[in-house]
Amino acid sequence: MIRYYVVTVFPELVARFCDEGLLGRAQRGSLVSLATINPREFAHDKHRSIDDTPYGGGSGMVMQPGPLVEAMERADALEAAQGGSRPTRVLLTPQGEPLTQAIVRALAERPAMTLVCGRYEGVDERARAEVDVEISLGDFVLMGGEIAALALIEATARLAPGVLGNPESVEEESHARGLLEYPHYTRPVEFRGRTVPDVLLSGDHARIARWRRREAFLRTLRRRPDLLQGRELSDEERGWLEEGT
Ligand SMILES: C[S@@+](CC[C@H](N)C(=O)[O-])C[C@H]1O[C@@H](n2cnc3c(N)ncnc32)[C@H](O)[C@@H]1O
Repeated sequence: MIRYYVVTVFPELVARFCDEGLLGRAQRGSLVSLATINPREFAHDKHRSIDDTPYGGGSGMVMQPGPLVEAMERADALEAAQGGSRPTRVLLTPQGEPLTQAIVRALAERPAMTLVCGRYEGVDERARAEVDVEISLGDFVLMGGEIAALALIEATARLAPGVLGNPESVEEESHARGLLEYPHYTRPVEFRGRTVPDVLLSGDHARIARWRRREAFLRTLRRRPDLLQGRELSDEERGWLEEGT
């Protein structure tokens, strides 16, 4: 069971997304749980504002530290009520460490996470000081952290036991073993002049497995050679490397 606490000014958007599909099923099956916390609840003025102009001038508004930190503390209290210790605090920001499957695997081990979604120009540095890790979805800028938080929820939740119907798919898929996944085909055998590779129709499981290992390796070599840097190649991979180059 992973428990997620999402600090967001769009709680309904986040909750609605997580109520659908596999995440919805995982929540109903108590395999994951989700609580949203709106920092506006912790605004201290009558307009319930949580942002203000930046000191030193400049464009945009900055999220104030008080409501964000109090929202994180609300998550701590909710988790304590479940008997858990302080959730890992993750700030979603384009300045964070780019998300990888290795980070996803490490975070999926944690029992609880507080995901803090920024908006506007970002968050006051004193709120940043209160988080454990800063994660970026990639080198581009979103309007807010919600999509990044949802990406992190999907990526970690699918590793939680029981969430996926077929746990083997997690072991075989792209990035699980440092390679992209092999190509997939389903019916029909021929589609607009393109046919399924004969080997997949052969019923020879050993040949199919070898073909898939080779395709995964060559696909990675062509599309993402950076993933192969530092990889200790097997004998068969060394052979395919010579063929592929
Ligand atoms: C418009 S962005 C602010 C960007 C900020 N001014 C900067 O240059 O770093 C608003 C919020 O969107 C979220 N965000 C934007 N891009 C992101 C990314 N690549 N990964 C994760 N979160 C992102 C963050 O929570 C951020 O606080």
